[in-house]
Order: sequence, then structure tokens, then C-alpha cells
Amino acid sequence: MLEARDLTVVHGGTAVVDRVSLALPEGPYGLGLIGASGSGKTTVARCLSGLMTPTHGTVLFRGADVSGMRRSGAYRRAVQIVVQDTEGALDPRMRVGTAIAEVLRAHRMVPRGTERERVAELLADVGLSAEHAARHPHQLSGGQRQRAAIARALAVRPRFLVLDEPTNALDTTVQARILGLLNTLRTEHRLSLLLISHDLAVVAQLCRYVVVLHHGRVVEEGPLTAVLREPRHPATRSLRDAVPRLSP
Ligand SMILES: Nc1ncnc2c1ncn2[C@@H]1O[C@H](COP(=O)(O)OP(=O)(O)O)[C@@H](O)[C@H]1O
Ligand SMILES: [Mg+2]
Repeated sequence: MLEARDLTVVHGGTAVVDRVSLALPEGPYGLGLIGASGSGKTTVARCLSGLMTPTHGTVLFRGADVSGMRRSGAYRRAVQIVVQDTEGALDPRMRVGTAIAEVLRAHRMVPRGTERERVAELLADVGLSAEHAARHPHQLSGGQRQRAAIARALAVRPRFLVLDEPTNALDTTVQARILGLLNTLRTEHRLSLLLISHDLAVVAQLCRYVVVLHHGRVVEEGPLTAVLREPRHPATRSLRDAVPRLSP
């Protein structure tokens, strides 16, 4: 279990995340975190992944407060974050294969000298071929770059993947393929996913349960079908109405 308890993050005197609690059970599982731009989704994602320390509240990994873990060891590997392509998930100066091999070495994931084989396996897992290992990020399409970023996250055999608008910059066809890939990977690797999006249609493809953020607060949560049928908060209603084909 990966859990956020009463997370609060204050910037310039304002709580941009305000007492947010949510829990991700062991996988395979998918939880959707939705909210308009600026509602605090990325801040929650960064706290859960150990990239940021909340002002108040705790992140618990398998029952233990991660603030005492200095982002090391089991927690650091178990929880990986994938950000949207436009935010430069991959280092532009590094070949894709080198970037993944570096992660394998840093975490001693495979015996020395076998990194190349493992990189090829990881690329195959995400639908890329071994030849993509020699390319730089700018030599890949947006969809291929996002696949490579997912392969790099998988290199440390995570249990939890925090996906922060992973298909935001992609057109709908490519978006659907990436979501299909994530669905397959979830089953194969028994992953627990936190899928973050402002788009309910994206979340609906992978998650049965959703949490709605509005101005840093959880304003609604529950099974996706119930939230769609009877949204209780105006913020949820406007997220739903933005996706007409999901409306009842
Ligand atoms: N480092 C920061 N300093 C000041 N304000 C920030 C910082 N990071 C985020 N914010 C503010 O916090 C709010 C939530 O941001 P964010 O978590 O990125 O929302 P979302 O991902 O839902 O768009 C926004 O109003 C944003 O401007
Ligand atoms: Mg964001």
C-alpha cells in the first residue's frame, strides 16, 4: 500500500494541497486523480513519489513514513513517476538506451555487462525495438518518447506508477495506444497505477475509482460510474461535462 495522509503543501502562504488523503493498494490496480489545471495534482504526485516533502501530513509506504527513508532503497524503487512528454521526461543529450542502462547500473538491477540485454527487453515490453536504444529523444515521436519513459520507470521493477498526465501532449490515437499499453503492463507486472489527468475520458479507460481535486482539496471520491452518474460537486460536474460522450 502507498498512502497519502492529510497532505498539505503551502506555497507563499497558500495551501495548494490541503489535507489530501488517498490510498493505492498493491496492484494490479488503478486509481484516477482528476482535477482542473492548478488543482494540485502534480504537487500530490511529487509528494507521493518522494520528490517533494509536504508541509504537513505524511506519505506511507507499506505502513512506514517515507520521510525517514531519505528516498532510498525499497521505496525509491517501488514508486516511480512518469511525467508528460512536454516536461522533458528524458534527458535530450542522452541516447534512450544509455539513459535506461544508467538506471539499471545505479540501482544494481542486473549483473554488470548484461545491461544491453535488459534494455532491449524493457524496450520490447513497451512496444519499442532494440534499435530505438541508439536514438536520442528528439529522434523519436511523442508516443515513442512516452514509451521510452515508461520503460525507464519499469527498469527498477516498481510496484506503483504515478502517471502525471502521461498522454497529455499526444493526439487521441497515440493516447489510446499508450493507455492500452499501460493496461497490459499493469496486468503483466501487477502494477498499482495512480493515473492523473484533467480528462475524465483518459481516467475512465484504466480506473474504476476516482478522487476529484479542486483548489487543493478532495471534493469527491468514489466509483467512477457513481461519480459520473451523480456528481455531487460542481467541479466534478464540469469535468464530466467537458467529456460529453461520458455523460449519461
Ligand atoms: N513551486 C511552486 N511555487 C509556488 N506555487 C506553486 C509551486 N508549484 C505549484 N504551485 C501552485 O500550486 C497550484 C497547484 O499546482 P499543481 O500541483 O501543478 O496543479 P495541477 O498539476 O493540478 O495543474 C497552482 O496554483 C500552482 O501555481
Ligand atoms: Mg500538473
